[in-house]
Amino acid sequence: MTPIVPRHSRITGTGSFLPPKRLTNDMLAAQLAQDGIETSDQWIVDRTGIKARHFVEGDVACSDLAVQAARRALEAADCDAASIDLIIVATSTPDMVFPSTACIVQQKLGVHGCPAFDVQAVCSGFVYALTLADSMIRTGAARKALVIGAEVFSRILDFKDRGTCVLFGDGAGAVVLEASDTPGILATELHADGRHVGILCVPGHVSGGQILGDPVLKMDGPAVFKIAVNVLFDVAQSVLAKAGLTDADVDWLIPHQANIRILQSTAKRLKLPTEKLIVTVDQHGNTSAASIPLALDESVRSGKIKPGDTVLLEGVGGGFTWGAVLLDL
Ligand code: ACO
Repeated sequence: MTPIVPRHSRITGTGSFLPPKRLTNDMLAAQLAQDGIETSDQWIVDRTGIKARHFVEGDVACSDLAVQAARRALEAADCDAASIDLIIVATSTPDMVFPSTACIVQQKLGVHGCPAFDVQAVCSGFVYALTLADSMIRTGAARKALVIGAEVFSRILDFKDRGTCVLFGDGAGAVVLEASDTPGILATELHADGRHVGILCVPGHVSGGQILGDPVLKMDGPAVFKIAVNVLFDVAQSVLAKAGLTDADVDWLIPHQANIRILQSTAKRLKLPTEKLIVTVDQHGNTSAASIPLALDESVRSGKIKPGDTVLLEGVGGGFTWGAVLLDL
C-alpha cells in the first residue's frame, strides 16, 4: 500500500522558557562598571529598544532551556513526547562540539529513535529549522516534529565590548509541527551569502585540545544593520508572492528580535502598522535562534495571536543568513 503523504504541516502548540535571572540595563551597566566599561540605560534603549535580558546561571546548558520550552509546546499541542518523530534544534551555542543539542534534548525528554539534529544558521536558525521540518513532513519523512530555537548567548559575549554585550540574552522557544490536511505553513524561503561571514561571527575554534582564535562574538553593527533591513524587506515580499498574498493579508509580523530600529523600519517598508509588529526585544534582548519562537509563544499565550491568524516570521543573522516562513496559525 502506498503511504499517504500529507500535503501540509501546521503548528499545533507553542512553548518557551526564559532563565529566571533577569538583568535590567541599569543592573548590567553596574556590573560592567566594575570592569571600567561605561554604558547607560539611555544609550541602550535609544539605540536598540532593549530594557532587560535574561542570563543563565551556573552550569545551565542550552539543552536545559530547550527541554523546558519543548515540554510547554508539547503540553500546548496536547501531545506525548513519545509521539514525536523528528527533533530539530536551531542553536549557535550548543552544549558540546558534538553530539548535537537535539540528541541531548531527545535524551532529556526520554524518547529514543527518532531523527534529531541541530541547525546552525545563527539568528535565522529557527526559520531554517521550521522550513526543514515542513519539508520533511510534506515528503512523508516525519509526521510530528519538535522544532526548537535555544541559545545561551551570554556564554559567547565579550563583557569588555560594550558595543555587543548589551545586545543579547538567553532563552528558548519551541513549536510542535504536525502533518495536516489543511494549510498551516503557506510558504517558506531561505537565503545565505557567505561574503559577509566576517561582519558577525565568533571566530574561535577547538584544535589540538585548545581554543584557537577568539571565542567571543564580534560584530560590525552598522554593516549588519544595513544588510538586515534590506534582506528582511526583500524576503518578506518574495514569500508573500509565493503564497499569492500581499502585505495587507499579514495579521502579525514577527521579525527576528535584534533591535527595535531594525524591526520598525522593516514594518514601515512593508507598510504594516506598528500594531501588527510583535516586539519582545525590549524584555528579552536578542536571543538569536530563540527570538522568533519566544515571541510567537508569548503572543499566542497572551491571546494577541489567535488561531487562524496569518503570521509572517522573518529571520536574519550571521553567515549572512536570512529567510521567512508565512503561516496560518
Ligand atoms: N554604551 C554606550 N556607548 C556605546 C555603547 C554602549 N553600550 N556601545 C557603543 N557605544 C559608543 C561607541 O563607542 C561610539 O562612541 P564614539 O562615537 O565615541 O566612538 C558610539 O557609541 C556610536 O557607536 P556605533 O557603533 O557607531 O553605534 P551605532 O549607532 O551604530 O549603534 C548598534 C550600535 C546598536 C549595534 C547598531 O549598529 C545596530 O543596531 N546594529 C545592528 C546590529 C544588531 O542589532 N545586531 C544584533 C545582532 S545581529 C542580528 O541579530 C542579525
